[in-house]
Amino acid sequence: MKIGFAKLEIPSTGTYVVGVHEDRKLTSSATALDKRTRGMLSAAMAGSRFKGRKGEMLDILQPRGVKAHRVVLLGLGKPADLGSLRLQRLGGLVTAHLNRLGETTATVAIDAIADANPTAPTMAAQFAYGARLRSYRFDKYRTREKPEHKPTLRSLALAVEDQAAARKLFAPLSRVADGVHATRDVVSEPPNVIYPATFAERCKQLEELGVKVEVLDEKQMAKLGMGALLGVAQGSAKPPRIVVMQWSGAPDAADKRPIAFCGKGVTFDTGGISLKPAAGMEDMKWDMAGAGAVLGVMTALAGRKAKVNAVGVVGLVENMPDGNAQRPSDIVTSMSGRTIEVLNTDAEGRLVLADVCWYTQDRFKPKAMIDLATLTGAIIIALGHEFAGLFANNEDLAAGLLAAGRATGEKLWRMPLGDVFDRQIDSDAADVKNIAGDRAAGSTIGAVFIQRFVNDVPWAHLDIAGVAWSKKDHATTPKGATAFGVRLLDRLVADRYEEKRG
Ligand code: BES
Ligand code: MN
Ligand code: ZN
Repeated sequence: MKIGFAKLEIPSTGTYVVGVHEDRKLTSSATALDKRTRGMLSAAMAGSRFKGRKGEMLDILQPRGVKAHRVVLLGLGKPADLGSLRLQRLGGLVTAHLNRLGETTATVAIDAIADANPTAPTMAAQFAYGARLRSYRFDKYRTREKPEHKPTLRSLALAVEDQAAARKLFAPLSRVADGVHATRDVVSEPPNVIYPATFAERCKQLEELGVKVEVLDEKQMAKLGMGALLGVAQGSAKPPRIVVMQWSGAPDAADKRPIAFCGKGVTFDTGGISLKPAAGMEDMKWDMAGAGAVLGVMTALAGRKAKVNAVGVVGLVENMPDGNAQRPSDIVTSMSGRTIEVLNTDAEGRLVLADVCWYTQDRFKPKAMIDLATLTGAIIIALGHEFAGLFANNEDLAAGLLAAGRATGEKLWRMPLGDVFDRQIDSDAADVKNIAGDRAAGSTIGAVFIQRFVNDVPWAHLDIAGVAWSKKDHATTPKGATAFGVRLLDRLVADRYEEKRG
């Protein structure tokens, strides 16, 4: 789908979308159109339940007096609530609606609102961003799809007074959408296509954006002493990888230390010898969504040339049961030197992150380190599919993340860490064990395990098991891989870590 910006006037083809505020208050474009059509908008509203509440839509076919063949009234809600997130959602909803209608071409009027804080160009850019986010589709393996099931919308124009300003505001947002789409692409792929080596190849493509990409293979990991990650990988015919992606957007900053992102990249999680039940196991193809989000946020930051030094490190393994797989009760030595008793081979994400987080803090001495992982089923029990779990050893970092979550709609809920939990993973046989032994506070147990490998750097762990994949459509996120974390971390960087321009 092509998204562009056009003059604020009634278009001569396709569908024309005009806004209506709550209580049927017409925007200026809607007022002009109501006049031109000799009252068709007012009449249509009067004959329906359309009130102009947020997201309501009313179609008017063959409007008189104009060449456009359809008008859609779009409810904007209360003007005071028309923030960026609302506009993105409206952009997504309109895109989905137009595709359902079978429309190919549409124009959306974006009118300035008296004393509203988003300016018309900002509104247009945010609307366009939402449209781009919603228009994502993973359909490369559907070879026989009926034409009537395919999306139709080819071109969406945002009609706004200052198109140059809108274009300028949209450019970086569109780069963030590129990152979101890169994540969705990799997370949606089946595990016979995306496994450690092929995931690493995708990361390599970031070189085109000026990202430095290094791929560590098994030998290099063995040399570094990454026994925790390698223990998980040893049951798979697919050799593991670690990918290090570096974006140096602030080479002259006074403090050159990067912000670091670490991702759990289990390209398929059978549970290993602690085998998962068959029902629902297919979901474990997206057990690399943390690594996918890291790939996406690096794509976004490099794409929009963020003035920040950032490093993304992903640990890529496949967790399989096999004659060579690790056994419950194996003891492995992690890169930190700490020994780990593996009591459940299905608690593998924390083993991967133990080495990835240790390696990252040891090599890069980051200002802050944030890991993303589909770590525990328990976080779904606690928070459902609405919030990701946030665990942090630093108040400032936690506050920044919570604020970024509210701003982007990728919401976080703070969860506890602490010694009372940490004690529960002391092992009788090694320095630490990878499960506590009962189901209590399962997500926190995973988090305190990782915490043993972060060496006191300001750190946050995001458990995204409940939010990485959606079984239903949302305004800006079609069902499937959500790319949770990309918008969030891009925003955190923009608000807290980026050198201000100019
Ligand atoms: N990848 C899973 C967690 C998961 C479950 C993600 C459901 C998405 C949906 C993780 O590796 C796992 O298996 N965790 C175990 C930990 C347990 C053995 C302590 C779990 O949550 O059951
Ligand atoms: Mn597992
Ligand atoms: Zn897993």
